[in-house]
Amino acid sequence: MTKFRNAMGALLCAALLAPLWGGEDKKDEKKEAPKKEATLIIKVPEDATLWIDGEEYTDQKEKTERTFRSTPLEPGKRYFYTVKAKWMPNNYETYTRVRRAIVEAGKTSTLDLTKIDPKVPDDIFIRFVPTPQEVVDKMMEMGKVGKDDIVYDLGCGDGRLVVTAVSKRGAKKGVGVDLDPDRLKESNDNAKAAKVTDKVEFRKQDVMKVAKLEEATVVTMYLSDGLSDQLRPILLKRLKPGSRIVSHRFLMGSWKPEKTETVTVDGEAYKIHLWTVPGTPKKEEKPVEKKPVEKKDDKKPEKKDDKKPVEKKPVEKKDDKKPENKDDKKPVEKKPVEKKPVEKKPENKDVKKPFEKKDDKKPENKDDKKPVEKKGDKKPENKDDKKPVEKKDEKKPALMVRR
Ligand SMILES: C[S@@+](CC[C@H](N)C(=O)[O-])C[C@H]1O[C@@H](n2cnc3c(N)ncnc32)[C@H](O)[C@@H]1O
Repeated sequence: MTKFRNAMGALLCAALLAPLWGGEDKKDEKKEAPKKEATLIIKVPEDATLWIDGEEYTDQKEKTERTFRSTPLEPGKRYFYTVKAKWMPNNYETYTRVRRAIVEAGKTSTLDLTKIDPKVPDDIFIRFVPTPQEVVDKMMEMGKVGKDDIVYDLGCGDGRLVVTAVSKRGAKKGVGVDLDPDRLKESNDNAKAAKVTDKVEFRKQDVMKVAKLEEATVVTMYLSDGLSDQLRPILLKRLKPGSRIVSHRFLMGSWKPEKTETVTVDGEAYKIHLWTVPGTPKKEEKPVEKKPVEKKDDKKPEKKDDKKPVEKKPVEKKDDKKPENKDDKKPVEKKPVEKKPVEKKPENKDVKKPFEKKDDKKPENKDDKKPVEKKGDKKPENKDDKKPVEKKDEKKPALMVRR
């Protein structure tokens, strides 16, 4: 009787579990939906070098549309690639633009790297072309540089503007920033020769990220229309009302200069533009009240959460799922040749020949490159909306449009 009961029990268990096993098989079938490639069409300037997730992408070089195919990806998920393009629109500027492309298995998406995004400024590097001393002097005069001024030169080259500001005009401080260490060395040497090292400072910084810019009362620059335009919202936000901005040759997009003057040196014409940061200067600040000294115990312990971990790629959007495998994202057919491309410095050969050659073309219409103005940007009034007409013989760095 007991044997019979056990046998019946076993049969009952098997009958109950059977549907579950069957269900498991079906689940596995569902998981195996076929993976598919994603296609990404990348629009770039013809001469751009391209990197996808840090690896140089050499296919279809010199084409303005390059097609990238991913390895098979899981359908229904979105993946992103970091795409970087670097090109020289002329022999004076080097642009580096980075964007994120979202792709999906079996689908084609397009990333247009030829378009400016004012929310994501480009890295722009300008090669060194010095401003002639007579033009430097005129820039100081237009900026009314005097003993109470702190002068910042953005992209200081050999430091001549900074040194002139303190040595000839008696400015109380001069700061120059540049990315090129050789230029910074030259700047320091020139400050030594002029015996003004105690009043100047030269820093290796990008003009878009200058520390303590708020202290400047005069900003000078000789960059490019593109880079100066990118700087406009930064200068308007960070400089005090009444601060002067003096630029050799280049303009700041829709912010028209209040004054433009031309200096002729050795028969060459040089344009200088002046802007004043709008707004009412704050009344002199009262001395800051002394706060009671904080006791040791008063110090708040650092919150652990304050330090956010650095985001790792690929980043999931809320509804994004993670790609299962890093390798899934490598291009299927050809692997990019260089894994870690060494970024070339822009050539500096022409430093001593900064002027436009007869057959050099002017840079592209700057309106083409104008970033769309941000809502929050202040637009100072301008009486004269007309573009200053450049004289034919104005000395310019050679701006050779390649395209
Ligand atoms: C045209 S030169 C002007 C030099 C100097 N201000 C003058 O007028 O004689 C531009 C300088 O800016 C530097 N530069 C270019 N792009 C820069 C950037 N993004 N950040 C900092 N310096 C930059 C270059 O190294 C170069 O020395």
